[in-house]
Amino acid sequence: MPATVVVGTQWGDEGKGRVIDNLAEKSRMVVRFQGGNNAGHTIVTEEGEFKFHLVPSGILYPQVTAVIGNGVVVDPRVLCEEIDSLKARGYSCENLRLSGNAHLIMPYHILLDAAIETTLGRRKIGTTKRGIGPCYTDKAARIGIRVQDLLDKKILRQKLDTAIGLKNDLLEKVYNSPGVDPFEVMEQYARFADELSPYIADTSLLIDKALKRGEQVLFEGAQGTLLDIDHGTYPFVTSSNPIAGAACVGAGVGPTRIEEVIGVCKAYTTRVGEGPFPTELSGELGDHFVKTGVEYGTTTGRRRRCGWLDLVILKYAVRLSGITGLAITKLDVLSGLDQLNVCSMYEYEHDGAHENYIDFPPHQSIFYHCQPVYQNLPGWKEDITGARKLADLPQEARDYLDLIAEEAGVPVKIVSVGPGRDQIVEV
Ligand code: GDP
Ligand code: IMO
Ligand code: MG
Repeated sequence: MPATVVVGTQWGDEGKGRVIDNLAEKSRMVVRFQGGNNAGHTIVTEEGEFKFHLVPSGILYPQVTAVIGNGVVVDPRVLCEEIDSLKARGYSCENLRLSGNAHLIMPYHILLDAAIETTLGRRKIGTTKRGIGPCYTDKAARIGIRVQDLLDKKILRQKLDTAIGLKNDLLEKVYNSPGVDPFEVMEQYARFADELSPYIADTSLLIDKALKRGEQVLFEGAQGTLLDIDHGTYPFVTSSNPIAGAACVGAGVGPTRIEEVIGVCKAYTTRVGEGPFPTELSGELGDHFVKTGVEYGTTTGRRRRCGWLDLVILKYAVRLSGITGLAITKLDVLSGLDQLNVCSMYEYEHDGAHENYIDFPPHQSIFYHCQPVYQNLPGWKEDITGARKLADLPQEARDYLDLIAEEAGVPVKIVSVGPGRDQIVEV
């Protein structure tokens, strides 16, 4: 499978990093194509835990070229820190490449992210406050600063002067908060330029060459389908497109080059930040998932909201990304529950009328007010963290996987039963 896109099918944190790590062993390139350091992708190896925010999760393999594509928004401070911390653990990062067309997150983006959230008050999005939205805003407004601008300090200074003039006005006059010091920012970014310039490359061309050589290339999605700015639970979304089509735009490859799309789906559902979540659980069961699944955000440390698996959103993800196979993660977290609920439909009561939705509702107001309709399945008691083939799983767990595959209409190709590299059930 030479060109494979890996995407999240829910609200992020499905275990994409862990699945990429599994597939990267047999790959030559891993490409991030959207999002920024709002992402937190965890990999657990014999050497301990790695949390990646910007560096593609394939970096740990020496044969992998790790590419940050043009569609990513890059906070150079975070990238430099990530490179330094990898170097400190013995990874040279010589195989890292950064697109010159990627946009830079600037200090004023981070300040604006926080100021906008404060202004929204009760209507806030619950962003990661990493400056993601304001950076994509400037990209679309054509006043962004790109990685390639770091290569020419004169151009960098000119662009910074214009941008900081505008942004300081906004921060000081609209949001009543302090702006940034242009000299300080120039000095800081000139330092980042020196550190990052060795990694800057024509990444679209590199990917094209790898594909022409017949090498396996993975495209690593960040966030998840329901956080997609066009198709997700707007406005409670991120500012990019985490669905598979975005891999083409955000990496610079044509759609005919993509052959496989793996949808990563947690065996239950989680969400961080605000917004609707039909299968959300409160009380003891919700706490059970938080505790057993260690559901705290990789980037912000926030407690993740937890709920039952939602097949309506999974089917939606399959449709939007053309998913050809599923990776089901955290199946082990369901062990010990007497009964499992799986949402297969929504009910919506409105003005005395009753409607059922087996497909994702077309309007947010419906999604906001709909009620999940559950199928009940028997749970299993066994610890399954040692399972390595389907036959090692209890019948109830296999039935659970069969139901997912049947309803989603695509096969389950990978099952994960623990965070460790070997805790994979090959299907
Ligand atoms: P990502 O953002 O999609 O890459 O996911 P995160 O890394 O934010 O969150 C997934 C968390 O679940 C990480 O802490 C992983 O180590 C952990 N994890 C991944 N797969 C499994 C699994 O099958 N079982 C358990 N118990 N933990 C897992
Ligand atoms: P990974 O790649 C889970 C959520 C935030 C917030 C919304 C907008 O680890 O799956 P933003 O900072 O992007 O403007 O915040 O999106 N969010 C994530 N939730 N996992 C992520 O990434 C996320 N990245 C952003 O919590 O609700
Ligand atoms: Mg994450």
